[in-house]
Amino acid sequence: MSAPGIPRPAPVDMAHHKHLTGLFAPQREEVDVHDLRVIGEIPADLRGAYLRNGPNPRFDPIGRYVYPLDGDGMVHRVEIADGHARYTNRFVRTPMVEAEERAGHVIWGGVTDLYTPSADEVGPALAGTSRDLPDINIVRHGGRLLAMAESAPPYRLDPADLSTLGRETCDGAMAVGSTAHPKLDPRTGELVLFNYMLEAPYLTWAVVGEDGTTVRPPQPVDGVDVPLMIHDMALTDRYVVLVLCPLAFDIAAMLTGGSLLDWRPGDGTRVALIPRDGGPVRWASCDAFWVWHFAGARDLPDGRVQVDYAQWTYPGGFAHGDTPATGGLVRATIDPENGTVDRQTVFDRDVEFPRVDDRTLTRSAGSVATVGKLGRGSDGWDSLWFFDPDAGTETHWDPGSLAVGEPQYIHGADGDYWGMIGTDRADLTSWFVLLPAADPASGPLARVQLPTRVPSGLHGAWLPV
Ligand SMILES: [Fe+2]
Repeated sequence: MSAPGIPRPAPVDMAHHKHLTGLFAPQREEVDVHDLRVIGEIPADLRGAYLRNGPNPRFDPIGRYVYPLDGDGMVHRVEIADGHARYTNRFVRTPMVEAEERAGHVIWGGVTDLYTPSADEVGPALAGTSRDLPDINIVRHGGRLLAMAESAPPYRLDPADLSTLGRETCDGAMAVGSTAHPKLDPRTGELVLFNYMLEAPYLTWAVVGEDGTTVRPPQPVDGVDVPLMIHDMALTDRYVVLVLCPLAFDIAAMLTGGSLLDWRPGDGTRVALIPRDGGPVRWASCDAFWVWHFAGARDLPDGRVQVDYAQWTYPGGFAHGDTPATGGLVRATIDPENGTVDRQTVFDRDVEFPRVDDRTLTRSAGSVATVGKLGRGSDGWDSLWFFDPDAGTETHWDPGSLAVGEPQYIHGADGDYWGMIGTDRADLTSWFVLLPAADPASGPLARVQLPTRVPSGLHGAWLPV
């Protein structure tokens, strides 16, 4: 199938695109470097790998480049052993990236462009396709290392050299697609996921067992009659928690030149508590808000469910309001009996990428770490913040000129740490930074200089050996 009547889009103005320059400029070089320079000392007990994914177009894009939806995936890995560090980065080589590499230039437009390449250009198998975008997250489960997309199947990578092995369905659980943020249950070893789609039933959930086989194939979430964008989820021992904010897909509007996504605050936000035993969905609702990312969640003894997340007034970048979208760290208590959502603000300033010690993911115990802003007026996130919502305490680490990325909890043999990749605004050098989890505000134990600049990206994982 070709794209009749839709011309090839014009090149993106790279030099003036906020998310293709500076901290976000794509990295095209792939390297593998041992014995990296370390300032400070890598704890001797630490052994494993930090991986991070993010948008990184292989060639200068055409059409619209919408961050964070567009871009090809690039996985960055920092391997730690015996006090030394090694860095490797590789593109996630989808059939689209491979076809573009054969051609030596970009072929596909962006995810919101209607243009698709013809059979003459890419052959019959790829004609009429859109670009696959496994550039959001990296997950290891059931013997598989997965570069995750959103609402599409992930790509499996070879853990030895990060080469791309191909699309992965996880024994059928992700055959139609998956969120980029499935949740690994630390108690059962199961990987629980959802998937939204543009056609009925609009929303499904599924479970992959610890051994990588499908425990629960995709099944509809009853009570959803509109296609909604849903980025992340929460998980407790009893429930899959899906928060349905009113950001709706509007295909008809897009086909007539309008926006693909429509913010409908009058519809409010609904919360689906999906019993993991397969029972009927329990619904709750409240005024509209937007959430990209969740921290932890837990079942309360009285049957209610508590969820911590980074809340926004609306999805800035995807909808327009009279004022900028403002954020905060929020704890919501959802009552499945009376359908209410009680929201308490933990921290009333913009934060994102909330993470917890993943061993406590379903029981919300301990610290929530986020990126945040000290208000220097510069682009990107300029500080790491650490909250204990139970105790009502907060602290932060000021990294100076470093723009910081998502923090990752690292459990070592003799101690625990927060790790993340940051890039210095002054000279665009990138660093892997290790903070002591017991006192992160005291600053890094080690800063590992990476051999190439790592573009500001999205999500990562610590994979112990
Ligand atoms: Fe995300």
